[in-house]
Amino acid sequence: MLLPRVFQLSKRRLSALRSVRAGAARSTFSSRSASSLSAKIVGPRKQVLRASVLTATSASAALLLYSLLDPVPGAIEASDVMLHNQVDDCWIVLDGEVYDVTNFLQMHPGGVGRIMEVAGGDATRKFYSVHSGSTLDKMKDQLVHVGKLKGKFTEVISEEEIRISEQRKKLPPLSRIFNLSDFESIAREILPRSTFAYYATGASDEFSIRENHYAYGRVFFRPKVLQDIAYDVDTSTEFLGAKVNLPVYISAFAGSKMAHPLAELNLQAAAEKANVMQMVPKQSSYSIEEFFEHVPDNQNHWYQYHFDDVEQLNNVGILIKELESQPTVKGLFLNVDLRDIGNREKDTRQRSVDTTTSKDLSSIVTKNMSYAKFTWKDVDKIMASTQLPIALKGIQRGEDVVSAAERGVKAVVLSNHGGRQLDFSRPPLEVLAEAKQMLKEKGLEDKIEIYLDGGVRRGSDVVKALCMGAKGVGLGRPFLYAMAGYGEPGITHLLEILEGEIKNNMRLLGVERISDLNESLVDVNSLKFRNPRANDVLYDEGYMSLRFPEFK
Ligand code: GLV
Repeated sequence: MLLPRVFQLSKRRLSALRSVRAGAARSTFSSRSASSLSAKIVGPRKQVLRASVLTATSASAALLLYSLLDPVPGAIEASDVMLHNQVDDCWIVLDGEVYDVTNFLQMHPGGVGRIMEVAGGDATRKFYSVHSGSTLDKMKDQLVHVGKLKGKFTEVISEEEIRISEQRKKLPPLSRIFNLSDFESIAREILPRSTFAYYATGASDEFSIRENHYAYGRVFFRPKVLQDIAYDVDTSTEFLGAKVNLPVYISAFAGSKMAHPLAELNLQAAAEKANVMQMVPKQSSYSIEEFFEHVPDNQNHWYQYHFDDVEQLNNVGILIKELESQPTVKGLFLNVDLRDIGNREKDTRQRSVDTTTSKDLSSIVTKNMSYAKFTWKDVDKIMASTQLPIALKGIQRGEDVVSAAERGVKAVVLSNHGGRQLDFSRPPLEVLAEAKQMLKEKGLEDKIEIYLDGGVRRGSDVVKALCMGAKGVGLGRPFLYAMAGYGEPGITHLLEILEGEIKNNMRLLGVERISDLNESLVDVNSLKFRNPRANDVLYDEGYMSLRFPEFK
């Protein structure tokens, strides 16, 4: 529902403004208000003013101008703000204050485009839909304050936008975020409903998405006490030969930009600082060149790809060349679980009722996507064409892990796509136990690295998977949720929480290094007993329930 206009620009001033824009004669103006006088000057002599005053350091010049002309120094009419809507002359209003952001434009982490959407207008609502109040405080040094807003703006604000901007203002500080589910609960309140539904959706009745997590609750520890271990345990390991500081990686997911304007670059920056592996998604907000341009040579990346059509499969050589030329790319992870798109019912239902679904979301994964036929033969061909390690993402049974190992595939990700593809595909932790057993029987245990993703919310989940033979664990949604609330600092905080939990678990298990984690430290006897289960309160609260249709 759209609310009534909050600010109205008077008809007289609107037509005056139009005349100014059209370069009409001064006589159009009869108002003696200081700001309309300024508009008079800006109008006919706009070029002169721009060149001589506004473009250089527009704010101080504007302040001088207003202090000369305005009986209330610094008070600026909305109509005047509206004149400054160009890249070389850009004002915006935030919380009733007018700022000249001409110079700040190029520095804006979210790009020039985002500010230009609100150039010459009131940016308050848009600002708070992605930033918190403390971001504004930090930014203020870089903005040039022109004065207070005096006039009125025409704005149409949806209830949803008001809800988000109000919630953003009350965002708890990061110091009150203690676990990964906390991020999820925050994201649920501050993201547009359609965005959250897209992130949160599983397939159909969502058994897999929930089981992915609950499976971890069915594994218990068998700690060794009285061990001679240092307090400073070491969480570093190697992923396909690349040294990383944590046995977790940032998984690939579409739609980061809906969580934060800096999207995958937030993840990149936090991953670099923590020396954590980042899997860069095909559906990134940046092209490969744009993304890797920001990346230092000593960082570690994996690249995730899937084939939308036969042409992409036929042209995989071009992609591989491009990736081979990026020194930080240490592996190509190909999705093998996309013969069709899963029935993302929660997402589809929300999109069907939500008139505010963003452009970003409409262009992302939708119900009607079809993908190329992609077979083991293609995998063999691709592997034969490159030295770049090839890995398969989306393996869901032990036999396929064996098959991959026999062919020389370097790694697999046991994954049901975060429960978004085939509902009732088993939790990856169960598949891990099965795969390890099958590999052992064939003597292939050391031939392939096994990763898994889906449902991981605690350091203990990571440690359990490692004890059971995984090399590392990927997380997706938690990073989106952290970035939605807090941008890069949120991602860093998430990684610190995980690191703290993993270290704490290692100490209490009696191990000092990742290589010391083994199956003797876990009891997996209940792994296959899917019911009954103890409730995991945080996870269940974060979980967004499926719904029935709503009455109009
Ligand atoms: C994309 O792969 C998605 O799961 O939305």
